[in-house]
Amino acid sequence: MKLSPSILAADLANISKAIRLCEQAKADFIHFDVMDGHFVPNLTFGAPVIRAVRALTKIPFDVHLMVENPEDYVDDLAKIGCHIVSFHIETTPHAPRLAAQIQEAGMQASVALNPGTSLVAIEEVLPVVENVLVMGVNPGFYGQDFIPHMAEKIEKLSEYRDEREMVFTIEVDGGVSVNNAPTFEEIGVDIVVAGKAFFTVDDPYAAARLLRGNASKKTGGRRNQEES
Ligand code: DX5
Ligand code: ZN
Repeated sequence: MKLSPSILAADLANISKAIRLCEQAKADFIHFDVMDGHFVPNLTFGAPVIRAVRALTKIPFDVHLMVENPEDYVDDLAKIGCHIVSFHIETTPHAPRLAAQIQEAGMQASVALNPGTSLVAIEEVLPVVENVLVMGVNPGFYGQDFIPHMAEKIEKLSEYRDEREMVFTIEVDGGVSVNNAPTFEEIGVDIVVAGKAFFTVDDPYAAARLLRGNASKKTGGRRNQEES
């Protein structure tokens, strides 16, 4: 699996050190939690901070918008040079339009869903996104425990993808640990986000290895099918 460390859990007074750590641990992405204090009960950072960090590294950016009116943020993120942009299905009645806006701006569109939102809500959007971000916790804070039955939701999504030979990747965000990462790999997850499990441990390099699992395994529904 690919690893996307969540910068929110790093020492924000020393972002450059956190980015160096991501580079040394060969992180595949850096995950940015953009929160607006409306969609979620917390306020973090936006384009100015992401832009400043862009100058420090070439690691692709994985931006997670937990904001109302996510369409207002897309142009800035594209100018900065971000790779994946996740928007929450709960924040827009026009998900396909927003996905197209993100793609036309040159980035990968990703739809995210809260623990309380059923997969049914994103079914019609799956053909037009590159990635699905499944929340393992209620969004707003790092360091929370994974909600166990979210594993069933991820498995269902993975089976749905395989049955229809779809190619979107699956990302799990919130409560990922070295203990539950192997389960995610088994059920077809492609990207794991890790805040607490990477930035707050004594040995982040060992954690990165364990979180990734068998990183050489190919990802994506159709590709996995072709392999077997
Ligand atoms: C939660 C955020 C997550 C969080 C992950 O609202 O979207 O990305 O920072 O942190 P951990 O891995 O500690 O749950
Ligand atoms: Zn996130």
